[in-house]
Amino acid sequence: MAKKVAVIGAGVSGISSIKCCVDEDLEPTCFERSDDIGGLWKFTESSKDGMTRVYKSLVTNVSKEMSCYSDFPFHEDYPNFMNHEKFWDYLQEFAEHFDLLKYIQFKTTVCSITKRPDFLRNWSVGCGHRDRGQAK
Ligand SMILES: Cc1cc2nc3c(=O)[nH]c(=O)nc-3n(C[C@H](O)[C@H](O)[C@H](O)COP(=O)(O)OP(=O)(O)OC[C@H]3O[C@@H](n4cnc5c(N)ncnc54)[C@H](O)[C@@H]3O)c2cc1C
Ligand SMILES: *[C@@H]1O[C@H](CO)[C@@H](O)[C@H](O)[C@H]1NC(C)=O
Ligand SMILES: *[C@@H]1O[C@H](CO)[C@@H](O)[C@H](O)[C@H]1NC(C)=O
Repeated sequence: MAKKVAVIGAGVSGISSIKCCVDEDLEPTCFERSDDIGGLWKFTESSKDGMTRVYKSLVTNVSKEMSCYSDFPFHEDYPNFMNHEKFWDYLQEFAEHFDLLKYIQFKTTVCSITKRPDFLRNWSVGCGHRDRGQAK
C-alpha cells in the first residue's frame, strides 16, 4: 500500500511537494487553511487573516527562467518579469496540468502533528477535535 504523506499548505512549496509525492507513488493529502492555492501569491484586497501576501503593484524580481518549476516552463508569451496575477495563473496551470487539486483539502487548518503512540512510524495530523487521519 502506498505510504500516506501529509503536505501542509498549497503554496509554491506545497503544490510541488504534492507532485513529487505522486511521482514517487506516494499518497499525498494536502491541507490548506485558505480556500485556494498559491499561498502568498493569492492576492486579496485586505488581509483579515493576518497572512502576508503580494501587494497590488508587485512584479516578480526573478526571471521566469529562474523561477519556473524545472519540469514546467512558463508559456513563451509570458513576460520575463511578471505581475503577481500572471504568476498565480502559472501556479494554477501547474496544478491543473499535473491534476494536483484533487489532493488538496481546502479550508483545513493543521494545528498539531503528533506521533501516534500505537505505531512509531505513524503521525496524526489534526486540528482541535477534527482528526484528519494519519501520515507516515
Ligand atoms: C512581497 C513578496 C514578494 C515576493 N516576490 C518574489 C519573487 O518575485 N520571486 C520569488 O521567487 N519569490 C518571491 N517571494 C518569495 C516567496 O516567499 C516565494 O515565492 C513562495 O511564495 C513561498 O512559497 P511557500 O509555499 O513556501 O509559502 P506560502 O506562499 O506562504 O504558502 C504557505 C501556504 O500554507 C498555508 N498554511 C500555512 N499554515 C498552515 C496550516 N497550519 N494549516 C494549513 N495550511 C497552512 C497557507 O495558507 C499558504 O497557502 C516573495 C515574497 C513576498 C512576501
Ligand atoms: C528580490 O527581492 C527580494 C526582496 O526584496 C530580495 O531579497 C532579493 O534579493 C531580490 N532578488 C533579486 C534577484 O533581485
Ligand atoms: C500505522 O502504520 C501501520 C504500518 O504502516 C499501518 O498498518 C497502520 O494501519 C497504521 N495505523 C493507523 C492507526 O493508521
